[in-house]
Parts: sequence; structure tokens; C-alpha cells
Amino acid sequence: MMEKSRSPFYPEMPVPPEEFVGRKDVIDRIRARGLGQVAAGRSYSLFLEGEYGFGKTSLAQYVMRLAAAPAEEGGYNLLPLYVSIGGCATREDLAQYVLRAATTLSGTWQALREFLGRFINQVTLFGVVSVNPSAVRETAPDLATPDALLGFLANLRRTSSTGGVVLVFDEINGVASSDWFSQFIKSLADTNSVQGYLPLLLVLCGTPDRRRQMIARHRPIERIWDPITVDAVDAADVREYLLKAFRSVEIRVADAALEMMTFYSGGHPRVMHIIGDVAFWQDKDGVIDEDDAIQALTDAADEVGRKFVDRQIVDELHSETYRSILAVVGQRILKRGFGEGFTRRDMLAQLADPRLERNFDNFVQRMRALGAIAVVARGEYRFSLPIIEAYVAMRAHPAE
Ligand SMILES: Nc1ncnc2c1ncn2[C@@H]1O[C@H](COP(=O)(O)OP(=O)(O)OP(=O)(O)O)[C@@H](O)[C@H]1O
Ligand SMILES: [Mg+2]
Repeated sequence: MMEKSRSPFYPEMPVPPEEFVGRKDVIDRIRARGLGQVAAGRSYSLFLEGEYGFGKTSLAQYVMRLAAAPAEEGGYNLLPLYVSIGGCATREDLAQYVLRAATTLSGTWQALREFLGRFINQVTLFGVVSVNPSAVRETAPDLATPDALLGFLANLRRTSSTGGVVLVFDEINGVASSDWFSQFIKSLADTNSVQGYLPLLLVLCGTPDRRRQMIARHRPIERIWDPITVDAVDAADVREYLLKAFRSVEIRVADAALEMMTFYSGGHPRVMHIIGDVAFWQDKDGVIDEDDAIQALTDAADEVGRKFVDRQIVDELHSETYRSILAVVGQRILKRGFGEGFTRRDMLAQLADPRLERNFDNFVQRMRALGAIAVVARGEYRFSLPIIEAYVAMRAHPAE
């Protein structure tokens, strides 16, 4: 067996494009409506909408890789510009982030080095760019209008001799509720279609909440983008990923163990990576059997709880009574699959213990107050976030 040095799982990072699995339909659609159109000289906007950890960033990076590849390799010869705008509060910040990201590109796009020379301190042999922060800060305010930013992007395109630019704004959660962001994005798209600065594929990544929030801020923005749902992935893709990843480190996975890990990830790619990662580090003999999988699930549940579920919810769910109620909810998920939620009626029928029955309404109230579940209709509930549901299911797995 190989010495363990690197896990083939990425619980904290977007998956490298070469290991990306599934989402074929979504990618076909993005190719046809987005990349193909932009390569043909038009502009288009997408909103990649998905819950936390469903793979928005991974998808965006995969799309950028496709975009940048030359036409002979099935790509589109576009310049990929990825900007994570999590910490930005104003238009000037936004311009600064774009400029910084563009400067970093010159590590791989030689042609941009001279054009962006002013903003670069140094490019190492390995293409790592050290950015000159004061030059970026000085220039950014001049780029903080839609016209100026588009002019800059058009220059980037010309200098790099590409057919257009793919501009990804990731992590928009922070700015989505601001007064200026929706308007800015709308006028970026409008100004470009009127003035024809450049073929531009604009990609925004955020949660469904944030898309709604942006629309609430500025209704007309809804017309500019094509919303793409980044949902749970298919069980077949999860299976394929797990198998390939374990094979790459020469670990064999028993069928029952594979089924178990696949099922409990609930199509949630982040949970899949956590389960896989825990199993990888736990493994001692190069084979993951059912017992190993059960052990991995138990520990992965803790990790999911610790990292991704609100502390208060986790504490509450550890209480003796709620644990028992939750075990029944978990069993229900195991029977009916993820995303179905639960009803008061069924739960009361299954709890089969007067003490638990008496506590059920309190449980629901408390979980609602903490934002863990939402009411779908009278007496019908669902988990507000898929990762909470995955957590509950893992905690209720058969070993308990
Ligand atoms: N298509 C995929 N194939 C394999 N792994 C994936 C895929 N999509 C996402 N992942 C994995 O899922 C996890 C979350 O992915 P990613 O960071 O892209 O999601 P996100 O929606 O951007 O999350 P966040 O809301 O936290 O920004 C990572 O571990 C990533 O490697
Ligand atoms: Mg992300």
C-alpha cells in the first residue's frame, strides 16, 4: 500500500477540473447557450444558483477550463477571469478585486504581462504573480464604472488575443443585499450590449436566497441572466467519484461500503468528500469494508456537524429526547430518500413513545426557531439546508 501523503478528497476546496464528475446536462446547456455564443461574438449572463457546498465554485472553474482551452481541443479560446468578491463592499472594491485577478492571470497569459506590468512586482519561474497592491489601489477607482470596467475587459481580450472574456463573480453573498450591486451588474450587461465592448460571459455564483435578494433590490436584473440550478449530484456520479478516488490511492472498496457512503452523502458533493476523506485517513489495510464505512460515517457526521451546522443546532440535537426523535426522522430519510422532509402525522405514528410524542411539537418549534427546518404546509416540514439533512441522516445510520 502507498504511504499516505495526500488524500484524493477535497472537503475544503473546489474539485480540480480534471476530477470533476457529472452535471453533463448543465454543462451542455452552458456550452450551447453561454460559451458557444460568446465564442461567436455575443454576450450572455448566467447565475449558478445552489446551496452551500453543492459545487458552484467547482462548476465555475470547470467552465473556465473549458472556456480557456483552444478550439482544437474542444474549447473556446476565451479569457477566464475568476473573481471571488466575498469581502468587497463598494464598487471601488469590486474594481480592485477584478484588477487584482486580471493581474494574477498574467502568470499564465504571457501576453498580459506587459499590459499589466504596472501592477506586477514580480512573476516567478512558476508563473506565480506578486501583485503591487498600491498600484492596484490607485487605479481601481478609475475602473469602478460599468463603462470603464468594460473598456478594461475589452483591452484584456485584445491583448490576450482571445475571443472574449468569461468573468466569474463568485461568493456574491456579501454584496447581494447591497444597494449598488444589482444595479451595477445590470448596467454592466446593458452597457455592453449597447456599446459592444466585448463578447462577455458573465457568471454569478450564489445561493437561491441571494438571487432573490438581488432581484428584490432591482427587479429588471432578472431579465439579464439565465439561472442554472446547481443541485444535488446523482448517486451514480457520487459512486464514480468515490471509486475513482480510492482507486487512485490503491484502496479497494467493498460494494456494501460503497453503497453506504454513496447513500449517506445524499448527493451532497461536500459531504461525499468529507466521508471519503475520513475513510481514507482511517484506513489501515487498503480495503474499506462495511465496518470501516460505518466508522467513517460516524466520524464524518461529527465533522459535518462541527464545520457546517450551527453550533446551537448541534447542541440541541445532542439532547437525549431530541436524539431519539431525530433518529426516527433519520430512519425516514433512509426509507424515502433525501429532500422529502417529514410530517407531524407520520412522525407521531412512528415515535411509539408517549414521552417522545409529547416532545415532538417542542422539537419542531425549537428547530424552526434555530432555522434548521422550515414549514412547507401545516404539519409538514423540511430541512432548510441539505447539509443539515445529511447530518441528521448520518447520525441516524444503522450502527446506532
Ligand atoms: N462535480 C463535482 N465533482 C466532484 N466533487 C465536487 C463536484 N462539485 C463539487 N465538488 C466538491 O464539493 C465540495 C464543495 O464544492 P464547491 O466548493 O465547489 O461548492 P460551492 O457551492 O462553491 O460551496 P460554497 O457555497 O461553500 O461556496 C468540494 O469538496 C468539491 O471538491
Ligand atoms: Mg463556492
